[in-house]
Amino acid sequence: MTAIAISEPGGPRVLKPVERPVPRPGEGEILIQVKAAGVNRPDVAQRQGLYPPPPGASELPGLEVSGVVAACGANVRRWQVGDEVTALVPGGGYAQYCLTHETNALPIPHGFTFTEAAGIPENYFTVWHNVFERGALKDGETFLVHGGSSGIGTTAIQLGKAFGARVFTTAGSDEKCHACRELGADRAINYKTEDFVEVIKTETDGRGADVILDMVGGDYVNRNYSAAALDGRIVQIAFLGGATAEVNFSKLMVKRLTHTGSTLRPRSTAFKGRIATELEAHVWPLLAARKIAPVMDMIYPLTEAWRAHEHMEESNHIGKIVLDVA
Ligand SMILES: NC(=O)c1ccc[n+]([C@@H]2O[C@H](COP(=O)([O-])OP(=O)(O)OC[C@H]3O[C@@H](n4cnc5c(N)ncnc54)[C@H](OP(=O)(O)O)[C@@H]3O)[C@@H](O)[C@H]2O)c1
Repeated sequence: MTAIAISEPGGPRVLKPVERPVPRPGEGEILIQVKAAGVNRPDVAQRQGLYPPPPGASELPGLEVSGVVAACGANVRRWQVGDEVTALVPGGGYAQYCLTHETNALPIPHGFTFTEAAGIPENYFTVWHNVFERGALKDGETFLVHGGSSGIGTTAIQLGKAFGARVFTTAGSDEKCHACRELGADRAINYKTEDFVEVIKTETDGRGADVILDMVGGDYVNRNYSAAALDGRIVQIAFLGGATAEVNFSKLMVKRLTHTGSTLRPRSTAFKGRIATELEAHVWPLLAARKIAPVMDMIYPLTEAWRAHEHMEESNHIGKIVLDVA
């Protein structure tokens, strides 16, 4: 099969097409003939040598795919050869075939194309766990999403609105802010021209945000503490602005804040299977009804994965970048 390998840590051009044997499914695993593969910022970090695959995972990049079940390992219960699935994969998604545990695959939501479906798993698994489980976002609460135009951000805005939150978001241009409002954000803050702490304070009559989803870190940590409401929950999923910060903990204490975080990839197959079950019950019906959908930015052929990474690193995209593998 053709796959994309990281020839050495570095820039987008280190992503090189290679020929590899088709992997064989082990117990509980399915082999997927990949039709499309989602591109995610963690793939960029992996390519740069900053985010090594967890033990046992393929060293090939790619965390999510859509495609057709091509073979089933022993004791696979749910799937049969020919089923169309969208799946979170432990690695190796940038390839014509890849493996995942059967519980980490879901049916393609009714009416979705393979390219759309490939853009679902990584963002939806991440947002569901971090916003609704760790952050415990509830109907009627105020939710601040940083990086609103990212794959993660566009998902968080839509899910936040679908579950009854008042959604604020930050993004780096007026065009991105416009797109976030179109997705349902009540207020999009261009962080280059406005101070998100001031906007949140003004628009919530000084109350602040109940849940903040943050991928920036750095100097946002103190500012998130300022923008948070009493008993607010701040969930850290990345630190694009820096992994270290000097923090004034007095606000955390006085406001009784919870600052937590998580990273999806190293979690167990069983954990991911549990999230898949939750998503199928609570989110798949919203997708099937087209109340929410991944926002598609650009599609590149598999062999031009380097261009997809270059595009992602330019940071002008809105929503998902996907590789067409068919
Ligand atoms: N913890 C987890 O389990 C998990 C899982 C998946 C993804 N993630 C993380 O979530 C983040 C979003 O992922 P994604 O795939 O949705 O990425 P993406 O689509 O590439 O979006 C990242 C966005 O972040 C914004 N940004 C803010 N500060 C930035 C900075 N210093 N450098 C670069 N971009 C900056 C950019 O938009 P602006 O123009 O608005 O600045 C950019 O478009 C990534 O950091 C990723 O690693 C975490």
